[in-house]
Amino acid sequence: MPITRTTRHVVASVAVAAGTAVALGAASRPAAAAAHTPKVTPPPSVHTQVAYDPEQSFTSKWTRADAMQIKAQSDPSVSPGQSSLPSGQTMPEIPKDFPTMVDQNGKQVWVWDTWPLTDAQGNQYDYNGWNVIFSLTADSNAGYSFDDRHVHAKIGYWYRKANDKNARWTYGGLLFPKTGWPGTAQWSGSTRIEDGNNINVFYTALDFTDRNAPIATITNTKAHIHAGKDGVWFTGFDTFTPLLQPDGVLYQNVKQNPYYNFRDPFTFTDPAHPGKTYMVFEGNTASRREDYKCTQGDLGNSGEDSSSVTASGANFQLANVGLAEADNSDLTKWHFLPPILSANCVNDQTERPQFVIKKDHGQYKYYLFTISHASTYAAGLRGPDGVYGFVGNGIRSDFQPLNSGGLALGNPTDLNLAPLDPQQNGRAYQAYSHYVMPGGLVESFIDNVDGRRGGTLAPTVKLNIDGTSTSVDRSVGDNGLFGYGYIPSNMHRQGPWE
Ligand code: FRU
Repeated sequence: MPITRTTRHVVASVAVAAGTAVALGAASRPAAAAAHTPKVTPPPSVHTQVAYDPEQSFTSKWTRADAMQIKAQSDPSVSPGQSSLPSGQTMPEIPKDFPTMVDQNGKQVWVWDTWPLTDAQGNQYDYNGWNVIFSLTADSNAGYSFDDRHVHAKIGYWYRKANDKNARWTYGGLLFPKTGWPGTAQWSGSTRIEDGNNINVFYTALDFTDRNAPIATITNTKAHIHAGKDGVWFTGFDTFTPLLQPDGVLYQNVKQNPYYNFRDPFTFTDPAHPGKTYMVFEGNTASRREDYKCTQGDLGNSGEDSSSVTASGANFQLANVGLAEADNSDLTKWHFLPPILSANCVNDQTERPQFVIKKDHGQYKYYLFTISHASTYAAGLRGPDGVYGFVGNGIRSDFQPLNSGGLALGNPTDLNLAPLDPQQNGRAYQAYSHYVMPGGLVESFIDNVDGRRGGTLAPTVKLNIDGTSTSVDRSVGDNGLFGYGYIPSNMHRQGPWE
């Protein structure tokens, strides 16, 4: 498959998920030369969690020394293909006989990244007694493969009787009208319920007209939600307002790297800055591809030499978590602030970032969660597909990686084997695109369970989050697994019954 996709990481992850060694990811970066990896794992970098003003330019670093803790915590002695990860950070195994999500005619709708209807504090709402979720969807019968879905992605929505664990999600169809939306595909974002039945959708408009250099634009559109006895529907989506494109100064743009990552807006308010609305998103450090030189700061005390790390090709991995601030109450004008986290020479993707802000002993703690792939780590580093987390005292902090290396919840993976080793754990790509919900519940989608492809919502799991540690709660549900697509609400909104 030629490099036609937006991002090398998505391409790479797709190839990985398919269980095929398609060389797309590899084609987009030099073969991983063996970076000199120290024999004894150095300690993680010291992170104070201290908060800075969001307007300041401090960017916290997820260092190589931090990420090395993940491999150090993995068991070197498991038999090949077992999970080598600590059980507290491992997602329980998804059964292979999982159900799939279907439309009104019983045909499977491919579903991946999914987010609930929330307010700007992450509370999940039901509307007139219906839970509502939004998913990237693609037609499973259109002739392209699941791995080709990204270029065809469109946001669909689903509803079900609020908090009825046994109810299946009913497909409401595509969210936007057939025509009138910008670009050629719709990628992830967030959907906010505002006053009454006002809905604000933030998402990524993708234009694949030139598949070698797709254009990503963070976009806003507004609508109204309606509900009656038969379900949920939307009106509006008349105007699509482009909000942000990467500037090449703080955030890498298409000219600097055709495989840049720029997407997944998550808007939120911060109790420390009332009246303001912020957005985190997936970005890359602005630099022309190949020009970036790994710094000592990127390494931490990893025991490596920064020029050898650069020479290993690790400088192609330049993920960051971006920050933007709204300039008007309508949330149609935004400006960039410097990134809050960088993973330069560590990983190329910090996708679907989100904040969970919790009060702990009278102080707010800011948990930044983001998803990443085994295949997007820089040379010399290993970690599983899953959700990673960082904690600090504000939205711009010297973030401390959770569980010391940053891994919060990974798929069962044998880190002693290469990501695509034929003996790799059959569930190393079982789920992805995890989203952390109120109460530590985590939803995701099924990708590949022991060779069976998914494209449907995974069983929800629960993370116990305690200070700088997290662990999967295996005492709930079925050995830690709640129902497939269990996405409950913790708030209710009543509107006219239509
Ligand atoms: C994560 C992701 C998102 C993106 C979407 C595209 O699964 O790569 O970052 O918006 O998938 O399909």
